[in-house]
Amino acid sequence: MKVLISSEEIQQRVAELAARIVGDYAEEPITIVGVLTGSLMFLADLVRRLESPVRIGLIQASSYRGTATEPGQLEIGPELLPDLRGRHVLLLDDILDTGQTLSYLVEHVKRLEPASLKVAVLLRKMGRQITPLQPDYCGFEIPDRFVVGYGLDFNDQYRNLPFVGVLDG
Ligand code: XMP
Repeated sequence: MKVLISSEEIQQRVAELAARIVGDYAEEPITIVGVLTGSLMFLADLVRRLESPVRIGLIQASSYRGTATEPGQLEIGPELLPDLRGRHVLLLDDILDTGQTLSYLVEHVKRLEPASLKVAVLLRKMGRQITPLQPDYCGFEIPDRFVVGYGLDFNDQYRNLPFVGVLDG
């Protein structure tokens, strides 16, 4: 496997993002909502660097496999969310690819009436987005390759790697 982003690069960038987030939110409490399962490493490393008061929630979006539904449609899986009404919510995902998942989740979270809603992604694949969504915080822009590690999986493997690698490289 070829290492695309080393563990050291990830840790440095996460620290930079955390510093920006702390500055942007000042002392306001933040509710971080991680998208399962890929955001877990990013979430764990990021929240430990935040000095602002933090609450944590988790949410899952999966492709709807019902026969009556159009392909690509998503459904919200089990939600482990604190009350988001009136809270400053930061939605966290591992990777922005076509943008469908995050756009869907953004609309879902908006309906829960947060005081504000921002989006942070560790990775953004270049040239892939079909849904217009501008993340407020982005770790790295990467080429259109399938990546694993640091939360990202192939058949539920490789999530525990401390780096981001290219499987087919
Ligand atoms: P969309 O297209 O909705 O996709 O932005 C976001 C979700 O697709 C998965 N994804 C990947 N997973 N390596 C992975 O392990 C990749 O290169 C990759 N590209 C997309 C991921 O679950 C993400 O949340």
